[in-house]
Amino acid sequence: MTTSSAPGKIILFGEHAVVYGRPALAVPVTEVQAAAIVTDLPDNGTGGSAQAKKPDRVDWRKRVLVEAQAIGLSSDLYSLPPDEPLASTILLVFDSLGVSQPPACKITIKSTIPIASGLGSGAAVSVALIRALSTHIHRPLTDEQVNRLAFEIERLLHGTPSGIDNTVVTYCMPVFFVKGEAIRTLQPGAPLTLVIADTGVSAPTRESVADVRGLWKTDKPHMERLFDQVGEISRKARAAVESGDLPLIGELMNSNHALLQEMTVSSPELDRLVVAARAAGAMGAKLSGGGRGGNMIALVDSALAGSIATALETIGARRTIVTTISPQKG
Ligand code: PMV
Repeated sequence: MTTSSAPGKIILFGEHAVVYGRPALAVPVTEVQAAAIVTDLPDNGTGGSAQAKKPDRVDWRKRVLVEAQAIGLSSDLYSLPPDEPLASTILLVFDSLGVSQPPACKITIKSTIPIASGLGSGAAVSVALIRALSTHIHRPLTDEQVNRLAFEIERLLHGTPSGIDNTVVTYCMPVFFVKGEAIRTLQPGAPLTLVIADTGVSAPTRESVADVRGLWKTDKPHMERLFDQVGEISRKARAAVESGDLPLIGELMNSNHALLQEMTVSSPELDRLVVAARAAGAMGAKLSGGGRGGNMIALVDSALAGSIATALETIGARRTIVTTISPQKG
């Protein structure tokens, strides 16, 4: 049996602008995890034994079972549409490893990461799956290879992703991310305590990314100006995170939220949580991820985390997560 797990993630600064080459900051959220478990199955001959007749591609898919209770999925790979996200991930992993006859196995996905909420659930499942499958067939991959493959899957499933989700999830480190550039990890100068609050509305990231592209095509100078301002905020935020300047990080979060509103990716539910978090004592708050649903994040004094989370739940947050990003030792 081979098990691998990967954390969720949250974008601190720079979503949307990051698709246009501006920097963004994101951190892992280890309180939620996705896990992939691969177990061998006896080859029951459904696909034909290797000696008796050469099994074809269809045959091996019948000997690979996929189970993901959270989305009500329990099927052999053969019966799944090839564009079903888990099926396409599994096919891509075996394909890119050059494995044409994978062993009969059961692949189980378990995840505590809410889907479509900006917590990187898709990327975490991909990374856990890539690691579990490659290790199970004795072809472990380097982080760089895992990241590249996870990015390919993101592209397959989500159109034009920046690559920030797969990067943070793969390396499980805070990152300062610029699309296409080498990964730069971040070392916070002081612990950052965040309250993450879910609007309960599914975040239509693909749609919001497409709409921002539409606005950009209609008025490039305006949108480029907004992206430049976000890029500047991300750069300042990087320095503030590294020096542990919490009040400045909070201020920058508020400014970033205002720019995201201008990009039309906030929503009444997100704005309500942002306003309530600030009123309850947060140093700053903003939407996180694709927007129009999903999560809001607030930077808080750790002593106030509980009361701010409660205030957000009282006005309708579906759930809250409190996470602290601590400086790495060593
Ligand atoms: O909704 P999430 O957490 O997957 O974040 C999307 C972030 C965007 O910048 C909007 C898109 C991207 O690919 O970076």
